[in-house]
Amino acid sequence: MPHPVIAKDNVAVVTGGASGIGLAAAMAFARAGMKVCIVDVDEARLQEAATKLSSVAAAANVMTSAVDVSRAESVKELERAVGAHFGGTDLLMNNAGIQPGSTLFGEIDNWQRIIGVNMWGIINGSRIFAPNMIARGKAGLIINTGSKQGIPPRPAIPPTTSPRPA
Ligand SMILES: NC(=O)c1ccc[n+]([C@@H]2O[C@H](COP(=O)([O-])OP(=O)(O)OC[C@H]3O[C@@H](n4cnc5c(N)ncnc54)[C@H](O)[C@@H]3O)[C@@H](O)[C@H]2O)c1
Repeated sequence: MPHPVIAKDNVAVVTGGASGIGLAAAMAFARAGMKVCIVDVDEARLQEAATKLSSVAAAANVMTSAVDVSRAESVKELERAVGAHFGGTDLLMNNAGIQPGSTLFGEIDNWQRIIGVNMWGIINGSRIFAPNMIARGKAGLIINTGSKQGIPPRPAIPPTTSPRPA
């Protein structure tokens, strides 16, 4: 049985929604009758994804937004835009993520980019969307896409892993 927030006319925002897991989730939400906003940095892929979504949802129920989730000001603007367009957000899926495959000895810029997207992206989305989701006075849902690689570290990709908890 689907989660009760995944319901007709509720609003879903999916970051990293132009491809892969994000697009698959957005398609599933649209098939359930939700209004869907897909968010991505890749504008070309975002438009292709919107076309795919329109095959299972009315065009009026599909919104796209070219936003970098590592930038708090852009995420604030996204939250405002979804509110203006759809009236608010019921479900936020913090899914945008990168894995550039750097090594432990990689450039500091690479570490900063990974932490910016994979960590701050989730913090930005959650703290910026949650207050108005709560203010709606109805059930809401925040989903963070994770990876089992955050538990058993692999030497090739230390920036995306963490030590196994004691
Ligand atoms: N595919 C896997 O095997 C796997 C395993 C574990 C975890 N994950 C995680 O699942 C999530 C989705 O993975 P996927 O395999 O679908 O990857 P994907 O590369 O197909 O999709 C990720 C999307 O995020 C977008 N993106 C990247 N940086 C962004 C930013 N700063 N702001 C907004 N959008 C941005 C990309 O353009 C891309 O469309 C990621 O967080 C990934 O780390 C994937």
